[in-house]
Amino acid sequence: MRVALITGITGQDGSYLCEFLLSKGYVVHGLVRRTSSIERSRLRHIYRNPEVYGKTLQLHYCDLEDATTLRRIITKISPSELYHLAGQSHVGLSFEIAESTVDSVAVGTLRLLEIIRDLSAPPRVFHAASSEIFGRPLSMPQDEQTPMAPVNPYGASKAFATQLCRIYREKYGIHIVNGILYNHESPRRGENFVTRKICRAAAAIRLCLQDELLLGDTSAQRDWGDARDYVRGMWQALQHATAEDFVFATGILHSVRDVVDRAFSEAGVDPGRHVHQDDRLLRGAESTSLVGNPAKAERVLGWKRETDFDGLIRWMVQAELADLKAR
Ligand code: GDD
Repeated sequence: MRVALITGITGQDGSYLCEFLLSKGYVVHGLVRRTSSIERSRLRHIYRNPEVYGKTLQLHYCDLEDATTLRRIITKISPSELYHLAGQSHVGLSFEIAESTVDSVAVGTLRLLEIIRDLSAPPRVFHAASSEIFGRPLSMPQDEQTPMAPVNPYGASKAFATQLCRIYREKYGIHIVNGILYNHESPRRGENFVTRKICRAAAAIRLCLQDELLLGDTSAQRDWGDARDYVRGMWQALQHATAEDFVFATGILHSVRDVVDRAFSEAGVDPGRHVHQDDRLLRGAESTSLVGNPAKAERVLGWKRETDFDGLIRWMVQAELADLKAR
């Protein structure tokens, strides 16, 4: 029986990965922050199932700051695969709470690697790196060789963690994979990330539950994909015989304005009357030109994304309409 441990299991990626691994017959363990119980909504349908919870799925309270508990859980479970997804993940917020961002994303990864390094049979480790490590890159699209140039505390923390994973892989021979993940979205995305914010607003305006949507820089561009495709990529990356880094991306840029147009059209609403800029939401130091080249993952892992941009936004808007109507 294969045993997986997921840090950040209550998040968007963690919940999809949990479902994916359970469907593959894994026993799944997840770490839950003591303060994040309210966020378990993404897993509710699984852990309320008596056939699953306590049998093939187990959640454990553990903050990444708590090395003793982390060590105890990892030693007891002895996972064959560890997916490290936890950490403060909002780029804009990382300017406001820089120290706790660095602590969870950078130092949290260091703590985890220090524990793994001492194990007699270390698990294979997947580290969720981010396109934010590239910040304002000199070349586009970026690939596994592109130099890191982060422009915010979150990106700098991810750059540290990514490089540390490379160092531990080389120095200690641990099987560690960095998945350099570009933006990936779903109806389970946190509501303060831009695609979810827009899709939810489009649905709410359509249902006359909201009148206005305030955004920051709508000319900003990102490489947006479907979270379920990226979670499958995480698993594929860990099954590969050698530990390497992989970029997971679509290779296509869209602007925030494109998301607005697509989402409002799907909801049947004219954005002109409802969408306004709020200067407080501008980041100042904006990452630019973040578009990834997934050729290596496609060639080496056979990774293939199944959803395009229009399909993604359609799915998200329809999910919001269904959710709001059900309330
Ligand atoms: N959140 C937010 N809210 N972003 C806005 C808004 C707004 O009102 N208006 C414009 N934007 C712009 C941001 O400035 C950014 O250029 C873009 O929309 C996307 O912002 P987010 O959805 O917050 O995502 P992100 O690109 O900053 O970061 C996400 O993707 C990274 C992978 O590249 C996060 O998931 C990171 O954790 C992840 O590493």
